[in-house]
Amino acid sequence: MNKIIRKITVIGSGTMGSGIAQIFALNGYKVSLYDLSLNNLDLAIEKIQNSLEKLEKKQLINNSMANDAISRIKLCNHLENSLKESELIIEVIVEDFSEKEKLLKEVNQFCLPDAIIASNTSSISITKLANKVSKPERFIGMHFMNPVPIMPLVEIINGMKTSKSTTDNIISITKSINKTPIVVNDYPGFVANRILMPMINEAIHTLNEGVGDVEAIDQIMKLGMSHPMGPLELADFIGLDVCLYIMNILYKELGNTKYAPCPLLVKLVDANHLGVKTQQGFYKYDAKKKEKQAINFKY
Ligand code: CAA
Repeated sequence: MNKIIRKITVIGSGTMGSGIAQIFALNGYKVSLYDLSLNNLDLAIEKIQNSLEKLEKKQLINNSMANDAISRIKLCNHLENSLKESELIIEVIVEDFSEKEKLLKEVNQFCLPDAIIASNTSSISITKLANKVSKPERFIGMHFMNPVPIMPLVEIINGMKTSKSTTDNIISITKSINKTPIVVNDYPGFVANRILMPMINEAIHTLNEGVGDVEAIDQIMKLGMSHPMGPLELADFIGLDVCLYIMNILYKELGNTKYAPCPLLVKLVDANHLGVKTQQGFYKYDAKKKEKQAINFKY
């Protein structure tokens, strides 16, 4: 029988954390959204309000659903209080093993003994993270896609010690928030990023070798393959630092040079051209005008 889950704690209130908090609240769960920074929490609630407004405009939800969702989210910057009575805890902090390790040890200390702990990591081993809590059988990967409010997939990752009941509970809760769970096993990049990141890296090689310019590469994949975004635009959207981090994990852990990050990706990250978040990557972004212009890479 599935565990009854009423309250969720989402740890980390960035783009992914706020999206995850929103979707659970919209589907009737009480959510504690935790972040160390009160400023981040204020920004998160603003993002959630904007997203709910978009959904309302499209008549996917009505005003009272939006208000109810907001009222179910409690912002908190005290971890112990945030974890009180939470049957599911979702970690959505920075992609850094030592930061996650430190946080999980604290979570382990304060959470309910039978709580399920999930990580939204895009590439760090679930088995390795699970080792940091006292009940690794209750630890699992829940990899949401950006933008969370509209992407239907949650990639569910079983660690080596994840129990069947934990997986069954997570499948059921994922369906209850109107997302589609797809279960895979723990391996570098899981499935989503094992396939997506080498495609993005190959697009960067194609650009770097002068085969096509930024717009040509993106348009070919949009018009020819029906991708909603071209691979370079998508890399900017995800963050070039995140793409590089994941490529390095694939390269190191699978030990195959085919996963070596393209030197242009490394160079852009070194230059702090990280994509949308720094207003420049493969495109230059004008947030006010909501415009973007492809960069002309010349060699
Ligand atoms: N909340 C609510 N609605 C949102 C939203 C949000 N956060 N973001 C976008 N939308 C809605 C918009 O209102 C818009 O609705 P209409 O079409 O009805 O007007 C719709 O989504 C489309 O948005 P836009 O018009 O702004 O732009 P778009 O047509 O280019 O679509 C997109 C944006 C949905 C992001 C689309 O381009 C897309 O699907 N891109 C690919 C995204 C993707 O691949 N995500 C996975 C990244 S990988 C990852 O996340 C994991 C990892 O580990 C790296």
